[in-house]
Formats: sequence, structure tokens, C-alpha cells
Amino acid sequence: MPDAIAIQPFFHPPTGTWSYIASRGSDAVVIDPVLDYDAGDGRTGTTAADVLLAHLDSQGLRLHYVLETHAHADHLSAAAYLTSRTGAQVAIGAGIRAVQAHFANGFGLRVDDPAFVDAFDRLLKDGDVLDAGELRIEVIATPGHTPDGLSYRMGNNVFVGDTLFAPDVGTARCDFPGGSVEQLHNAIQRLHALPDDTVLWLCHDYPPAGRAPRAWIPVAESRRDNTMAAARIAADAFHAARRARDATLSPPALLRPALQVNLRGGRLPAQDRR
Ligand SMILES: [Fe+2]
Repeated sequence: MPDAIAIQPFFHPPTGTWSYIASRGSDAVVIDPVLDYDAGDGRTGTTAADVLLAHLDSQGLRLHYVLETHAHADHLSAAAYLTSRTGAQVAIGAGIRAVQAHFANGFGLRVDDPAFVDAFDRLLKDGDVLDAGELRIEVIATPGHTPDGLSYRMGNNVFVGDTLFAPDVGTARCDFPGGSVEQLHNAIQRLHALPDDTVLWLCHDYPPAGRAPRAWIPVAESRRDNTMAAARIAADAFHAARRARDATLSPPALLRPALQVNLRGGRLPAQDRR
């Protein structure tokens, strides 16, 4: 009988981010790794990423891919750090080119700058399949929060990025450039239509006081209980509620440093290395 898929979650309290190592046998992928960042002094750190490397090492796992669910605007990605240590490749949704195009001017780059063009090894689209040794990864396009949003399905596990949050929190915002409440609603419908034994693995949790962070939600619970996007909530009502909520939100604190690094595949801008 083939090995089962093993999933190890890692929580990053400063940003409320879940990162994961998914493996089957000795083959592994990392989903959404975090680079530590101190906004006070502008320094990055690798404490969180080194925990991932230590786990890979201690379990004898070979890292094939770092999988980004989207261009994160609230934390920096450790993708480039991990690939520099392991030789793994970085994959993200093909919609990243649209996100790069939007921000290129603000970062003093053109969209055809090698810092953008060469930032990722694989640009994925809906229906693509990645083989990481024994681990088979199906790509489900889930745009709406960002145009490059992807979910990664491995057996009955789906890593949903920011498409869905825990049921008591709801969903991610849709007011970033290229965001769409209609697309996010459609993406959620696709995820909620998956079989009942599906487990949704979150990219973030922001638990209210007294509740521990949750990494995974049974799809049936999300479908039934999500406060913004349960199956009983009509599309129009979701669109209106999401737009109303987004109108009250401030930009993420780390928006500019996060995108400046994440649109480059997790690399710092050259001038910051001098
Ligand atoms: Fe996000």
C-alpha cells in the first residue's frame, strides 16, 4: 500500500500565517513559507524557515517544490531562501504576472525585468498537475483575493491559500488590485463542491480571544458554517457583504515590503543588499 500523505503545519504568530510541509514517503513540498521580518529595523530573519529545513532534515525528506498559493501582501515569503538551501523549485499561479504588472512602476521595475520574469520556476494554471516524486499535486485556480490565487489538492487535502478562512472569520478581502468578489465567490463554490472527506488547509487564522489557531477545516463545516460564505448565503449577499467589509479595511501593514519581495519570488531588491 502506498504511503499516506503526511502534513505538518507550522504557525507564525507575528503574521498569523500557516506554512506546511506535505510529504509522501521521502518526497515533500512546502506551502507558503514565511521569512521573518522586523518592520522596526527592516531586517529579515530565517528563524521560521529554518524550522522547516530542520523538519525536512530530521524526517529525511527531499524538497521538490515551494508552492505559493498567491502573492502575499501581509508577510514575506521564504521561498528563495528555501530553494537556495535545497535546490527545490518555486511555483505560483500564472496570474502573478498581472500582480507584477500592477506594482512594477511603483517598485521602479518594468514587467519584463528579469527580477520579475525569472522570479518563479513554474507558473501554474487551473488543471495543471505537478509530480513531486510520490506526491501528486492538482492545481485549482481560486482567484478573487488576488488574480494569481491557487489551491493545491493532494489526495483529500486542499491548501486553499486565502480563499477561505476559519468559519468564524469568513474569507479574505477582495479589494487588492485585480481582486474580485465574484471570482472569490466562484472559487469558494468550487472548493465547497469537493467531496465531504475533503480537508481544507488554511494559509491564515486570526482567532478571536480564547480560540486556538486552526490549520484545517472539514469542507462540510466550511460549507455549513462559514460566516460569510456558507452554502446558504446567496452570491449577491456575499458580494455586498464582502464589498462593505472591504471598504472598512486599511492596507496590510507589510503591504509594500511584502510585495517588493514576494513579486521577486522571495528575493530582496538588489539595492537593499548594498
Ligand atoms: Fe493573502
